[in-house]
Amino acid sequence: MGATGAVGQEFLKLFEARHFPIADLRLLASERSEGRTQAFRGSPVEVRKVVPSSFADVDVAFFSAGASRSREYAPIARESGSVVIDNSSAFRMDPLVPLVVPEINGHLVTKDQKLYANPNCSAIILLMAVAPLRSLGQIDRIIVSTYQSASGAGARAMSELEHQTRDVLEGKAAKPEVLPHIYAFNLFSHNTPVNEHGYNEEEWKVIQESRKILDMPSLRINVTCIRVPVLRAHSQSITVEFKAEAPSEDAVRDALCSFPGVKVIDDRRGNHFPMPIEATGKYDVLVGRIRRDVSHPSALSMFVAGDQLLKGAALNAVQIAEALPQFADKFVAEVSGAPM
Ligand SMILES: NC(=O)c1ccc[n+]([C@@H]2O[C@H](COP(=O)([O-])OP(=O)(O)OC[C@H]3O[C@@H](n4cnc5c(N)ncnc54)[C@H](OP(=O)(O)O)[C@@H]3O)[C@@H](O)[C@H]2O)c1
Repeated sequence: MGATGAVGQEFLKLFEARHFPIADLRLLASERSEGRTQAFRGSPVEVRKVVPSSFADVDVAFFSAGASRSREYAPIARESGSVVIDNSSAFRMDPLVPLVVPEINGHLVTKDQKLYANPNCSAIILLMAVAPLRSLGQIDRIIVSTYQSASGAGARAMSELEHQTRDVLEGKAAKPEVLPHIYAFNLFSHNTPVNEHGYNEEEWKVIQESRKILDMPSLRINVTCIRVPVLRAHSQSITVEFKAEAPSEDAVRDALCSFPGVKVIDDRRGNHFPMPIEATGKYDVLVGRIRRDVSHPSALSMFVAGDQLLKGAALNAVQIAEALPQFADKFVAEVSGAPM
């Protein structure tokens, strides 16, 4: 559900690229997309409007159509016997719903669990860089500033950035329609409401969700989320403070290099570090600029970039599905080419 959106389109590419064992693919969206077709494995598949009967006989339902649709359809899909993997924020903080990044807390994927929440994209990218450091010492505090791309706000925001950029270059005025401010050649505080503490909704999600995923309910964490005029992939400047002295830069590099889903790009001589343009389309979260914080002996800093449509959304959800114990035999059969 949400098949025509920015995240939905990535699901289709991932199913093809990862040989996801699909016997019957059902593409669901709103009535706006009804009747459109999407090519999948060389054949057109029709997009249908989501209705309560859409989930009959569906083994796994991937949701990326916003929180209110997830709240409406998750109970219906579960009632129909589907395992639901939800990309929206609807169930993330529900104590009965696991919030999963497979490399970090994949043990929460079990046979009996029927609803999984995929974390906020910025939270996933942050924690892919921070979780490996837990083997080097006790983390006391995280400070992160994000540089978030247009694609994080969906397909319409991406085309708004393209249109505005073209308009400005042609000497016309840029008109904000999807996002609240002029986007081309500008940046602004994340476009979600600001709460009574002065944090916007995105920042608050990263705080709460990081505590839940790391299972550190009192983790000290401060977040600033900024929207930048980049088409795709989010970047972050991260400082991690340990309870004792910070580990050495080499130890940090080793821990990151051996963590699945992370790639270290840390070329000081060439001044080559993670960039959104190089993270785009990649499964790995890129981590670099690894350095001890000269202002504090317990702290170290990093810069990361990750494709938030992939690891921050669709890829993470597909990885959860691939880990479902009840379908493990189907993955083996498909990958080995044996009849299912
Ligand atoms: N973009 C990201 O990086 C990212 C990362 C993590 C999580 N998410 C979450 O994933 C979800 C989708 O994000 P997106 O960026 O893919 O948004 P998007 O590009 O705006 O796509 C939204 C999708 O939802 C569908 N939809 C909207 N209203 C619907 C309705 N009433 N009934 C059925 N389908 C409906 C749309 O169908 P139509 O084409 O028919 O309108 C479209 O397929 C959101 O919950 C978002 O928070 C996004």
